[in-house]
Amino acid sequence: KAYRVGILGATGAVGNELLELLESRNFPLADLKLLASERSVGKNLPFKGENIAIEAVNENSFKNIDILLASAGSSTSKAWAHKAVDAGAVVIDNSSAFRMNPEVPLIVPEVNPDAAANHKGIIANPNCTTILMAVAIYPLHKIKKIQRIVAATYQSASGAGAKAMAEVQAQASAILAGKKPPTEVFPYPLAFNLFPHNTPLNDMGYCEEEMKMVNETQKIFGTQNIRITATCVRVPVLRAHSEAINLEFAEPFSANEAREILKKAPGVKVVEDWQANYFPMPIDATGRDEVLVGRIRQDISHACGLELWLCGDQIRKGAALNAIQIAELLVEKNIVKPANALVSR
Ligand code: A2P
Repeated sequence: KAYRVGILGATGAVGNELLELLESRNFPLADLKLLASERSVGKNLPFKGENIAIEAVNENSFKNIDILLASAGSSTSKAWAHKAVDAGAVVIDNSSAFRMNPEVPLIVPEVNPDAAANHKGIIANPNCTTILMAVAIYPLHKIKKIQRIVAATYQSASGAGAKAMAEVQAQASAILAGKKPPTEVFPYPLAFNLFPHNTPLNDMGYCEEEMKMVNETQKIFGTQNIRITATCVRVPVLRAHSEAINLEFAEPFSANEAREILKKAPGVKVVEDWQANYFPMPIDATGRDEVLVGRIRQDISHACGLELWLCGDQIRKGAALNAIQIAELLVEKNIVKPANALVSR
């Protein structure tokens, strides 16, 4: 069986990667429709040796689509997702629009694939830093329950989209030429600098990105019992996020045991050369499917604590690959069509 797939946001950084993955993973495609804004009308994108014309999304876009991969931001998803569902598509949404809706499964296929079973037409793809952390720590949580997570992130420009990646490069060139760096996408210069993630702050002083790590991880793991705190920082890396993660368990978890578990975990690659001081780096994670994990060590400040470091391609496993894996899961379980309609709007 083959499926008619649409990509909403095909011209973006994640859209581009979705195209590449549909091609390289040989997804069973009957048809492919590329949707973006009016700005992209007249442009084409190459796919399997052909040029496919980009269409501006409109009321009629979703006829004849089985699976819509949406990656055009939250407001665009809010505007179109229900219309796509009404037209008969399942929407795998990369934005934050529906992630915390109790009727919408939030899925990392390595962690909670079963949550897809009762979808009602919309499935949410989690936040990128959340996906990367979940893949790396869930195999440990399965063995001994995690009680508390303290995370610090080092997030690349790619999380803010293709324009943001271009802006960091332009900033670097400007600074090297002794000129004022442009700041149209980012509020401050990112090249040769870093700043705390610039999403809105709540009254506890946490930014939205940090709260996504808290709330989404609890939803994906299916428990409110893990206490989570995070500090999210944007760094001048083009692509691939890094995270320093401290885990607290109820009992000691030896670093060696954790390492052996992670060596066998799906979607994880342990990268550690202690002699050479070589551990995961964003440039090594770029373009790779796996989350690279290293520096797995006992927390010297806590008998039941473990420290680890990870890098993962934000556009790939942090976004596009996870979405494609969800689509593959629906195909494999034959649940592309929802059993029930979405109730709340
Ligand atoms: P377009 O190129 O036509 O603006 P990124 O996250 O890399 O910035 O990409 C954002 C994606 O979302 C692009 O494909 C962009 O299309 C698309 N997009 C942004 N706003 C809209 C909109 N209002 N309607 C449809 N697509 C949109």
